[in-house]
Amino acid sequence: MSKKTTGREVKAFAPATVANLGLGFDILGLALVGPGDTVTARLVREKGVRMGSITGDGGVLPNDAGANTAGIAAAATLRRTGIKEGIELDLEKGLPIGSGLGSSAASAAAAAWAVNRLLGSPLRRVDLVEPCVEAEEAVSGRHADNVAPALLGGLILVQSLDPPDLVRLPVPEGLSVVVVTPDFVLNTRDSRSVLPESVPLKKVVRSTANIAAMVSACYSGDMALLARCVTDEIVTPARAPLIPGCGEVMDAALNAGALGSNISGAGPSVFALCRSPISAARAADAMKAAFAEAGLESTALISPADCPGARST
Ligand code: HSE
Repeated sequence: MSKKTTGREVKAFAPATVANLGLGFDILGLALVGPGDTVTARLVREKGVRMGSITGDGGVLPNDAGANTAGIAAAATLRRTGIKEGIELDLEKGLPIGSGLGSSAASAAAAAWAVNRLLGSPLRRVDLVEPCVEAEEAVSGRHADNVAPALLGGLILVQSLDPPDLVRLPVPEGLSVVVVTPDFVLNTRDSRSVLPESVPLKKVVRSTANIAAMVSACYSGDMALLARCVTDEIVTPARAPLIPGCGEVMDAALNAGALGSNISGAGPSVFALCRSPISAARAADAMKAAFAEAGLESTALISPADCPGARST
């Protein structure tokens, strides 16, 4: 054991997430199975939060705890507990940065979870949302649609951000998600900078109707209604030009039988919602082929739509 540490440490994992689900910009998100970020938090003698090692990031993330989401979320969590301790974080990135899979949120959620556990869990899981939102705000924008499902798991509606009011939606049985990630980086800040400042009322009305219908479809399990809701005229048209082949990839998913398809988070990943894992596998092949047509290599992830959030490992 290093002289600096006191020996206590907690390792935590937080999953990838799909934010927006096309129709719910900044208010809908769900957790995925499989890849995610892992943070080990340990008590050290010197007060405050600092970064230890960072791996899997290709050397691009800052070592300054005040500049990366794991460090910011950890410090905000520590502050919220009122406990004066020294904490060092090791961050293992399992998610590609700037991919639309909620990479910054996964780091924040894993760090917040690890710190809270390390301190004896003085905070509830839901209390970790605000520290994680603080971290998201510092790097990309103030939104909880990745951090909420990364922490809580499942499909989450962000009814309010300040203060957080989070609603868990039921997930229709069998609902599966495909996320196809092309091989290029799209910074969330850049992807937010192209969004319209104002929106025609008619589009707002259609968007509100889609969100209301989607919530109803979640409760009733009406997949046909769900299929009619996953569409967006506000954010997607502004962002699609940033992603080569975006429209073709979404069309390929629908032609392969997906219920709906859209940009995952801020992109460049594209997701599809499907009735079953078999339907999801068909959509994944079609979506990858469409990205290849646009000259992009891609990888596909198939996941149930109701997956757990942050946890100790
Ligand atoms: N709702 C956010 C956005 C998610 O679309 O910008 C970013 O991952």
